[in-house]
Amino acid sequence: MQKYKILIDTDPGVDDAMAILMAHDRADVLGLSVAAGNVGLNYTVANALKLVDVIGAQTPVYAGCATPLVHAAADAAAVHGSDGFGDTGYTPSTRKAQSEHAALAILRASHEHAGKLVLVALAPLTNVALALKLDPSLPQRVAKFVVMGGAVTGRGNYGTVPAEFNIGFDPEAAHVVFSSWPHFTLVDWEATVRHGLDFERFEAMLDKGDARAQFYASITQKTRAWSRERGRPKLLIADALAMAVALEPDIVLREEERHVAVELDGRLTRGATVVDWENRLGERANARIVLDVDQSRFEALLASAVGAR
Ligand code: RIB
Ligand code: CA
Repeated sequence: MQKYKILIDTDPGVDDAMAILMAHDRADVLGLSVAAGNVGLNYTVANALKLVDVIGAQTPVYAGCATPLVHAAADAAAVHGSDGFGDTGYTPSTRKAQSEHAALAILRASHEHAGKLVLVALAPLTNVALALKLDPSLPQRVAKFVVMGGAVTGRGNYGTVPAEFNIGFDPEAAHVVFSSWPHFTLVDWEATVRHGLDFERFEAMLDKGDARAQFYASITQKTRAWSRERGRPKLLIADALAMAVALEPDIVLREEERHVAVELDGRLTRGATVVDWENRLGERANARIVLDVDQSRFEALLASAVGAR
């Protein structure tokens, strides 16, 4: 994907980490705009800086919003560790985040790489919503916008039954983005569950990898144990699946164009991504909903990202 320039909005988070490794392995990564989500912004920024060091890159990191737009929300430290990277006590990077706010960095990149920018959102959409409010013309300059988020038939993983974390953590931000971005690619939690990874095969892959694999094995120890303890049959790496779709769009085997909106108020449904599957409202489809991808190509991208070709 050499002709495109990629900017990743992220809340690392161990599945974000795999997506960031994949992007650096295959694309020209302009920067990491960082949000709060999985854990607090101080940790997500530190994790982004550390991962860029592990990769051996100089990718700039931009700190974004420390809280959701309107309502406070619980983090996902139970899944990712208190520090978001498995509480390994890693030596922090000596590099610092840029002084420019993430939302402003997104806007600047869209001007500098107009028509060539691929924006991949792997976090709550707080930074992207802020950028849109600052400059509603942003979508006109972005070639492709890929979002990891939602649960398109209501089988969520956070807060209310139908909510998925990236949407449920900041539903107002997701509403701003989904209601004003003309067309985007959506890779949801349910697709993530359908594309889970065999634990043993994944760990064997990490054993064959390079320093990136060793680092990834260390930061995911807690998450892999947590997944097994909860009886998950497979390892689920949501952001990696979204990044695979961004890097290799033809990896998608099944997709549907539909209108999707975000529920903000329901006691039982706040944060739900409501898809008009029957086109009953007659609204234009704003989302290319990814349903299935080529699993072997997905896993090949993972292996390549950690040097386990
Ligand atoms: O629901 C999965 C998403 O929420 C992923 O982006 C994960 O990193 C968490 O942020
Ligand atoms: Ca994430």
